[in-house]
Amino acid sequence: VLARIICLIGGYFFGIIQTSYIYGKLHGIDIREYGSGNAGTTNALRVLGKKAGAVVFLGDLFKSVIACSVTHIIMNALGIENVYLFVIYTAAGVVLGHNFPFYMQFKGGKGIAATSGIAIGLLDWRVALIELGLFVFCVVVTKYVSVGSICLVLGLLVSYTIFAYTGSYGFTSDSMKLESCIVLGLITLLAIYRHKQNIVRLIKGTENKFSLKGRNKT
Ligand code: G3P
Repeated sequence: VLARIICLIGGYFFGIIQTSYIYGKLHGIDIREYGSGNAGTTNALRVLGKKAGAVVFLGDLFKSVIACSVTHIIMNALGIENVYLFVIYTAAGVVLGHNFPFYMQFKGGKGIAATSGIAIGLLDWRVALIELGLFVFCVVVTKYVSVGSICLVLGLLVSYTIFAYTGSYGFTSDSMKLESCIVLGLITLLAIYRHKQNIVRLIKGTENKFSLKGRNKT
């Protein structure tokens, strides 16, 4: 239990490096007051442009990759089994930090770039390709980033679960394998819940289509 808590807390402190908020502040704005009001890649791209979108995406992706990789390396060095469970707990901490950073009154982003970094942190390129492929396909077909994001997290959960249960991640304990899938399931549910306003807008037909229009106050 202690190792799980350390992974969650360690991950949280990586997650609170909220790239879109920091980038916005460096450019004199609070990203949460513009565009969709979300502190994330899509809104940084929408409000601050392509360079901002790229910097924010890479920043949020790599904080997750780095946190998961650090856990991977430390657990392997300590000879601890079922490493992937601890990687998933670390990722959960990163997503919680990104979505609920204490210094932003707990009003952060939706955690999609951070969640997509889990696949790279797992060192599983199959999962990374599946989630990326689903995201690109859904965004190209629908023009809605939110639809792509929801499909990405579902693709990650389903592919991780399949690979875990077909022996890919070397679990020596069935209960830890199941626990890792449940924690990833909770990350997925949180990501979908964070899109509740997007889902309402999608149903009403008022969701923002992907575009690079510029700064619109919320
Ligand atoms: O990753 C966030 C994306 O799915 C939606 O962002 O700014 O359109 O609410 P936004």
